[in-house]
Amino acid sequence: MRIDVLTLFPGMFTGPMDESILKRARATGKLDLRIHNLRDFTHDRHRTVDDRPFGGGPGMVLKPEPIFEAVETLKAEGEPPWVILLSPAGRVFHQGIARELAQRPRLLLICGSYEGVDERIRQALVDDELSIGDYVLTNGALPAMVIIDAVTRLLPGVLGDEASALDESFSQGLLEYPQYTRPAEFRGMKVPEVLLSGNHAAIAQWRAEQARRRTAERRPDLWARWLAEHAAGDSSRTRTGSQGAAENPG
Ligand SMILES: C[S@@+](CC[C@H](N)C(=O)[O-])C[C@H]1O[C@@H](n2cnc3c(N)ncnc32)[C@H](O)[C@@H]1O
Repeated sequence: MRIDVLTLFPGMFTGPMDESILKRARATGKLDLRIHNLRDFTHDRHRTVDDRPFGGGPGMVLKPEPIFEAVETLKAEGEPPWVILLSPAGRVFHQGIARELAQRPRLLLICGSYEGVDERIRQALVDDELSIGDYVLTNGALPAMVIIDAVTRLLPGVLGDEASALDESFSQGLLEYPQYTRPAEFRGMKVPEVLLSGNHAAIAQWRAEQARRRTAERRPDLWARWLAEHAAGDSSRTRTGSQGAAENPG
């Protein structure tokens, strides 16, 4: 997958995008990440990208001209990208959106700065507007990196063990079950017996129960959605009734 990023702060991407799974995905060509400085699409001596808001008010707004020029230039290079504006006003990013985006051959992420971007950018250039949560960050670089990370780990072959992406929190609409490693007893705290049993069916059942219990306790919103989906689609669960399942996630 190719991902282009348009930002005023390309240096912020150095480091986070050069470590761990992202580093490997880039080295093996599974992720073609290109970070572009918005100032490279200006033509005045001061490389101006912002201006005061019409109507007054604090702060500066990113001007339309450099962003239009950048997006049009990048769009002309090969496969048309799915253009995403990072914005607190976008739909809130989650694993389902990461899965949708991972299917696309190319993304172009526009990072806002200052008070945000001129509204005509939203109107004319953008396919999707995404927020990473209900809080305000200084600019769109961190949100862009969050999205790049979440999407990249879903690309085929990026995680060494393909199964691990299927098992993780949110992949089946549930939080992940508790994990343990050696030693089997640490400071009096014991690993649940079933995990030491070697009985794979019993382990799978324990994990499924734990995932449901943890989701019901910690994320009633996810749990209600999971129940609704499984009550509709799963006849064995329908037999026990969704209300019973809600009271007894295990
Ligand atoms: C300081 S913010 C602008 C906030 C804007 N004035 C508002 O009240 O919504 C500057 C830029 O950071 C990015 N940003 C900040 N918080 C974000 C969030 N939660 N999700 C996605 N992008 C965010 C956006 O690109 C935004 O244009």
